[in-house]
Amino acid sequence: MLILILAAVLLLCSCSSNTPEEDVVTEEAEDTVISSETESFDLEKGTVMLNSGYTMPIIGLGTWTLSNDEAEESVYAALKCGMRLIDTARYYQCETGVGRGLRRAIDEGIVKREDVFITSKIMPGDYDRAAQGINDSLSDLDVDYVDLMLIHQPGSNDEAVYKAMEQAVRDGKVRSIGISNYYTKEQVDEVLSYAEITPAVIQNENHLYYQNKALQEYVKQYGIVLESWYPFGGRGHTEDHFGNEVIKELAEKNGKTPAQIILRWHIQDGYITIPGSSNPEHIKENYNIFDFELTGEDMERIRDLDRQERYENW
Ligand SMILES: NC(=O)c1ccc[n+]([C@@H]2O[C@H](COP(=O)([O-])OP(=O)(O)OC[C@H]3O[C@@H](n4cnc5c(N)ncnc54)[C@H](OP(=O)(O)O)[C@@H]3O)[C@@H](O)[C@H]2O)c1
Repeated sequence: MLILILAAVLLLCSCSSNTPEEDVVTEEAEDTVISSETESFDLEKGTVMLNSGYTMPIIGLGTWTLSNDEAEESVYAALKCGMRLIDTARYYQCETGVGRGLRRAIDEGIVKREDVFITSKIMPGDYDRAAQGINDSLSDLDVDYVDLMLIHQPGSNDEAVYKAMEQAVRDGKVRSIGISNYYTKEQVDEVLSYAEITPAVIQNENHLYYQNKALQEYVKQYGIVLESWYPFGGRGHTEDHFGNEVIKELAEKNGKTPAQIILRWHIQDGYITIPGSSNPEHIKENYNIFDFELTGEDMERIRDLDRQERYENW
């Protein structure tokens, strides 16, 4: 009898050893799994849940090199065809045009402000006046807040710039923050060492010939997602990407254009992407990537094109 009682006590002890703290750890571990890059991508809705708690569209319009007039037309065309993500930057000098395109779409009832995800960046020339740089972007874009603000590239006083972005989040001027052109684990670790708000997004050069797979794997543990700039290699290199034999073959097989195959690979591989365009037909084409799927083998063939070659070094 005594042995039976002892066994029951031991059993009770082992059941209650799962303390509340340990339950939290278990839940956190599950969260980590759920926030892995591809699992948090919703390819039906075309969105990703950021670690900030906000939802971000996974395909949008890039506006680099567009004039203000072109930016207005492209943003309007993008919103009209269903795109809900617009990428711009103070450095591009077209935030006024982006704001006009957005305003026109709002005035025509195509979108509400809260339907659209606007990204801007603090430019290096503004690093000593980051808070003012954010205010200037809001003013030119004619919005009360931006959805995502990025440090455009590493500089000498990133910590102060990052702190200004965190303050802007507290002030309601910015919803999520991130970094751009940070390619190594060491660079990311440095930001994490002073960040009170973990970056939600890293926006980097990322295309067929320079894939950020290792970085993407590393930052997954922080719920950080990668966003690709130069998805087509940038102006001057697009033919090289569209004319790639693997891409051409997959375009033929799927009845899609090379641009659509490339963009589909980006989003299926867990990269948000923002092809730049001043052509409404191209913008429509770029958004029309949700009605087909690349197979695992197709994805592997595209991953194999990586040769770790960047076009830019900023
Ligand atoms: N964070 C950074 O440092 C950084 C740096 C560079 C870029 N970015 C961002 O990333 C965005 C993308 O980069 P990007 O615009 O320089 O290069 P990209 O998207 O790789 O390529 C843009 C080029 O592709 C063409 N294009 C677009 N859609 C096409 C289609 N369906 N068919 C054929 N051609 C097509 C465009 O021509 P059309 O105008 O004729 O369509 C343009 O010549 C930028 O716009 C910017 O928002 C960020």
